[in-house]
Amino acid sequence: MKIVLYCRDGDRPGWLAALSRHLPDAEVWAWTPETAARQADYAMVWAPPPAFFESQQTLKAVFNLGAGVDKILKTPDLAGLLKGAPLVRVQDGGMAVQMAEYACHALIRHTRGFDVYDRQQRDKLWKQHPPIVRQEWPVGVMGLGDIGSRVASAIAGFDFPAFGWSRSAHSIAGVTTFHGEAQFEFFLRECRVLVCVLPLNAGTAGIINRRTLEFLKPGAFVINMARGAHIVDADLLAAMESGHVVGAALDVFHDEPLPASHPYWAHPRVSMTPHIAAITLYEESTVQIAKKIARIEQGQPVEGVVHLARGY
Ligand code: GLV
Repeated sequence: MKIVLYCRDGDRPGWLAALSRHLPDAEVWAWTPETAARQADYAMVWAPPPAFFESQQTLKAVFNLGAGVDKILKTPDLAGLLKGAPLVRVQDGGMAVQMAEYACHALIRHTRGFDVYDRQQRDKLWKQHPPIVRQEWPVGVMGLGDIGSRVASAIAGFDFPAFGWSRSAHSIAGVTTFHGEAQFEFFLRECRVLVCVLPLNAGTAGIINRRTLEFLKPGAFVINMARGAHIVDADLLAAMESGHVVGAALDVFHDEPLPASHPYWAHPRVSMTPHIAAITLYEESTVQIAKKIARIEQGQPVEGVVHLARGY
């Protein structure tokens, strides 16, 4: 079996090592314009150029090396270039637990005032603050797929009132769920903390904007672990300026790396990280891909196939 790999340079050794462990008999190579003529059975890719697909004529499946498929879906005429090969994303692959950690960390750091205690330590100030009332901190998670449902369950596990919203109906123990456009405003009105783990597509770009932020309860807090383009930055900055939103934990940005001139860097209400909420794990993802390849070879269906028109 032949596998062609296209990924960031820094990730290549990790993927190649994991592939040699979990698919030791496969012939694996990294795609470059020089190796383009070599034809593979399967592709493992992160943000490949159109020339990658143009060069590959015999692919049985393309595995996206991450949960988000927004980058690859921007390829012009992707459906035509795939020639019927399914595009398959990593499902969880060890990322959901990391996302749950990130969301709970940001939520608890803010609600328990750990930032305040950090400042007090710097000032050598011994001062205890009253306990929080969890009912005052209802949390809503937008996006309830493999990742979002784990995030929502983890939040419910800390006894915060937990709400969830997604395009289609989901049922998660301990989480009150809403779905579809018609229920979006009802969902937002329940929440003070808004967590975004949505896929990015035409229907979700800019979903965190002036209107949606206004629906949140006063003293709102925003956690974005999905894509920067889910937020209209000017609207979030204005909502923080007005005090309606008291803070944001942001892992993703319109432009990455975030330009040094961007106001988020020095904003007193923003805590930010460089797109690390969940890091794709070579081992877990490769084991998952190897199992899916085995199923495809046996003519069995696989999960995680991306619906190109729907955008996830
Ligand atoms: C990371 O952002 C991913 O899509 O896996």
